[in-house]
Amino acid sequence: MTLSIIHYPHPTLRHRSRSVVRVDQRLKDLAAEMLDLMYENEGVGLAANQVDLPIRLFVANETGRRGEGDEMICVNPEIDRPKGSESSQEGCLSVPGIYGQVKRPKTVRLHAYDLQGNEIRRELDGFLARVVQHEIDHLDGTMFFDRMTDESRRELDGPLTEFQVDFESKRVAGSIEDDEAIAERRRRWEIDYTGLQANT
Ligand code: NI
Repeated sequence: MTLSIIHYPHPTLRHRSRSVVRVDQRLKDLAAEMLDLMYENEGVGLAANQVDLPIRLFVANETGRRGEGDEMICVNPEIDRPKGSESSQEGCLSVPGIYGQVKRPKTVRLHAYDLQGNEIRRELDGFLARVVQHEIDHLDGTMFFDRMTDESRRELDGPLTEFQVDFESKRVAGSIEDDEAIAERRRRWEIDYTGLQANT
């Protein structure tokens, strides 16, 4: 399977992803492919719904460089114990070229699983804490600009409208499916990996 990064306003970016109940070789291959994409695009994190997969999984490496730093693959990640507050600039591979100031807790505690089912428990601070919060937001259908102040958000209105125009023109040209087809494909993934019942 060849994954590609979807751009705003693709509907899967607004989908709240369901927890993973089953990890198989295909999912492990997909996570490896997500890391490849992340590094190729000079990103520091990538959530599964950014490659149109509606499951709670993200990959991250705060250095953005393969072979350096700490490469993370997190399944069913959760954070708690937020402490402090810090504003810093963020960008996103689903809205390339757009940046804005986002205020977030400075430190959080992460709980997740790796692809072998081992528990991950870590106290995170600094840039990595921000990256992980940004990726978990994706899994809940939240984009970083949703968390900006109204004033800074307004500065992005123009650039985000350009993304919307581009998306609509791709849809008219047939290179992006309609919402129903996208939802149906998401549903098949949810049946395969999140325990969604086929008859619901
Ligand atoms: Ni992002």
